[in-house]
Amino acid sequence: MPDTHQPDLARHVPPGRALGSLALIRAVIRNPLEALPREAFEQPIARRTVLGRERYFVTSPEMIQEVLLTQADAFAKSEAMRRALAPALGDAILTADGDRWRWQRRAVAPIFRPDRVQSFLSPMIEAAARTRDRWLALPPGTEIELGHEMMRMTFDIIVETMLSGHAAIDVARVENGITTYLESTGWAIAFAMVKAPGWTPFPGQRRAARARDYLRGELLRLVSERRRLGSEREDLIALLLAARDPESGQAMDDRDIADNLLTFITAGHETTALALTWAFYLLARHPEEEDRLLAEITQATGGAPLKPEVVPRLVRTRQAVQEVLRLYPPAPIIARGATRPVEVGGHRIAAGTTVLIPAYATHRLPGIWPDPHRFDPGRFAPAEVKARHRYAWIPFGAGPRICIGLGFAMEEATAILATLLPAIRLRPEPGFNPGLQMRITLRPARGMPMRITRR
Ligand code: HEM
Repeated sequence: MPDTHQPDLARHVPPGRALGSLALIRAVIRNPLEALPREAFEQPIARRTVLGRERYFVTSPEMIQEVLLTQADAFAKSEAMRRALAPALGDAILTADGDRWRWQRRAVAPIFRPDRVQSFLSPMIEAAARTRDRWLALPPGTEIELGHEMMRMTFDIIVETMLSGHAAIDVARVENGITTYLESTGWAIAFAMVKAPGWTPFPGQRRAARARDYLRGELLRLVSERRRLGSEREDLIALLLAARDPESGQAMDDRDIADNLLTFITAGHETTALALTWAFYLLARHPEEEDRLLAEITQATGGAPLKPEVVPRLVRTRQAVQEVLRLYPPAPIIARGATRPVEVGGHRIAAGTTVLIPAYATHRLPGIWPDPHRFDPGRFAPAEVKARHRYAWIPFGAGPRICIGLGFAMEEATAILATLLPAIRLRPEPGFNPGLQMRITLRPARGMPMRITRR
């Protein structure tokens, strides 16, 4: 990414020249966002051949709907994603396909029902209040690394809500392990593109393997501890322990349960933390919008601490979260592989072909989003949403594989903003440019240092 890149102004649109195969592979390793061809930003569907293999980029909402919904049965998770994630996450809900995916999804669905998610608002607000109080105790002007702070907070929330707050988890080490592991994923994706064998070595491989072994070991330990000690709690571990395969009647073994727990911990904290990191960055760059949210929050709470029942009234704050997810979708590229020949938008796609959905590009199409790089939560006012194609905004994916944590994440991000904003002002150094880097998720390449002042 060039240094001139300013995330909320003229944004990343790749150079017009096509990258050669080797340059492309290098770009995938460094930052897959850089490997998106310009056509992905300009055409509804674009075809590229890399080392003799076809790949499609599907950007238009109509065709995304075909891939993710109407013809979803012709697609599975992509080989590259599997290769990147399965060594850590196994064959759990995010990486599995077909019947195996379906029964895992059914097993965990009860914990994501709206009433359950509402009941999680209290622990979400409490975790945000702990962060706020810790920040208020710092000398004014202290610089914090916001991304890291957000990860800690959302990690606490996921462990509290999904795993009944297992104090035995070493939060810092697990969080570190996840980051270290994700750093290695560019290699796995590039190797899948060139069909290199699974054992091909790459720099940092040992570190990634150590992180993965630590994470898997910790979660396995947690599951066997629960089996031994039992618990009355109706949490995610309880649901997974009780799940039975509808075909065979078999329960999950400890490995499958641990893989799912690690999946939920990873998918459920990193993404929301990044959304919040980008949210504070955008609000710092748009103080007029920050003031508008503050006015809404103060009016809804009457200046008192936020209560769960007030969160549904924070309409503009929720729209701001949606707009952040448009500009910086934490999962910027959704990947699939065709499992049989299929036609999308008039293109015949052969079995085995990779189909990439660059949500990052769809979210910035000028034909759908006027002045697309501008931050404007008003785009999510109900009338505007109704006038757009449903698949124009896909930060959570769509169709049967849509993010199961969508409602959870939206409540969480809204409640956290409404707890932190009224107490604290966060500002980057003037002119600071965080850059963009994709590591499965979309991170600020240079971190997000912010100075804290009390309001
Ligand atoms: C802003 C926050 C979040 C974003 C942007 C996000 C994004 C996504 C996306 C794009 C997918 C679909 C991937 C695909 O189709 O290939 C997905 C799936 C998933 N997400 Fe999220 N997610 C977020 C928060 C969460 C939370 C809070 C949880 C759990 C508590 C969660 C758990 C999952 C799981 C388990 C899947 C796999 C679902 C399946 O395949 O059936 N996510 N997420």
